[in-house]
Amino acid sequence: MSRLKILNVVGARPNFMKIAAVMRAMQRQPGFDATLLHTGQHYDQAMSKLFFEELEIPKPDIFLGIGSGNHGEQTGRIMVEFEKVVLQNKPDLVVVVGDVNSTIACALVAVKQGVKVAHVEAGLRSYDRTMPEEINRILTDQISDLLFTTESSAESNLLKEGVDQAKIHFVGNVMIDTLFANLRKAGDSNILSKLSVGPKAFAVLTLHRPSNVDSHENLSTILQALASVQEQIPVVFPIHPRSQDRLEQFGLKPKLLEMPNLRVTGPLGYLDFLKLMSEAKFVMTDSGGIQEETTALGIPCLTLRENTERPITVTDGTNRVVGNDAMRIVEESMNLVAGKTLPGRRPQLWDGKASERIVRVLAGESALSTSLSRHDGVS
Ligand code: UD1
Repeated sequence: MSRLKILNVVGARPNFMKIAAVMRAMQRQPGFDATLLHTGQHYDQAMSKLFFEELEIPKPDIFLGIGSGNHGEQTGRIMVEFEKVVLQNKPDLVVVVGDVNSTIACALVAVKQGVKVAHVEAGLRSYDRTMPEEINRILTDQISDLLFTTESSAESNLLKEGVDQAKIHFVGNVMIDTLFANLRKAGDSNILSKLSVGPKAFAVLTLHRPSNVDSHENLSTILQALASVQEQIPVVFPIHPRSQDRLEQFGLKPKLLEMPNLRVTGPLGYLDFLKLMSEAKFVMTDSGGIQEETTALGIPCLTLRENTERPITVTDGTNRVVGNDAMRIVEESMNLVAGKTLPGRRPQLWDGKASERIVRVLAGESALSTSLSRHDGVS
């Protein structure tokens, strides 16, 4: 029997922890011939290579080397190069994860070449179309053949958009598979002593959303809140390259230097960051993935956005959406510093086995299509 030829796609940092679990499960499946393509949307040591090393993701079979650029330019370059790969390699299935530009670019190319597409982390919606990721999510889901979801809101969003229920599979969260698989290893990280912070005696901040960091006004507001929070508790702030650029461009870097309890670093590796999150008193973030990881760890999270596409982290988990109003951020932080907790439980199927479920669905689909094509041959 011929093996199912699967081309897995990654491009940017939040994709790596998802594909690590998916690739590992696929490699255990004898009927699969799984390869990995990296578009190179993220490319440097801190944003890409370190994650491959730490998560033991196989070296990509194909690297497109696309790099940064405006949305049209970056998406277009990925499409041009990815189409050549699809034409040459003729995969049976392309697997895309998350919501970055690489996700929509490769899904669009594959579907137009008649190749089936599976979307891992389908159906999440912020209902905020100014977010580039929201556009990527909506479009990818519309053209995917298999939609793997992490929470029940995703399925209702997809059904509302007219997606056929038969394509939707609730499998859980592959990013949490990776988190559980690495928690023990992360325990060995010495990042706390490197940053001179003690367990449960610091907070963590991450920022990179265009809505927060590309606006001088919004970024200044968050820094104003940060100035107050760090007076109460040390805050670790690993700065994303986009935010680094904007802080320089807006002349806001001196403000950071005025905060004695702020610990600034560059982007951290997966294991160091996991250690930081799991030992933090609380986390402030605008990242989607971190909202989920803190919920899985039971660590309070304040989301510095007006909405979330991951509502289960609020209804079941430890997440609170607080927007970017300085007063609210400071008030909520003070409550957490004072020992108030955000009760939460781990959402359904966030159990470390999501990628196994994905592989089982794919194996079932492939058995079905093999028996159908055999049947076609006979008739
Ligand atoms: C992208 C994703 C976003 C994801 C985020 C995680 C899209 C639309 N956005 O946003 O969903 O949450 O990644 O990081 O796909 N840079 C480096 N080194 C790198 C990569 C980028 O220095 O390896 C710099 C770029 O030069 C650029 C900035 O970081 O100035 C932003 O990178 P970009 O890929 O444009 O978008 P992100 O904001 O990272």
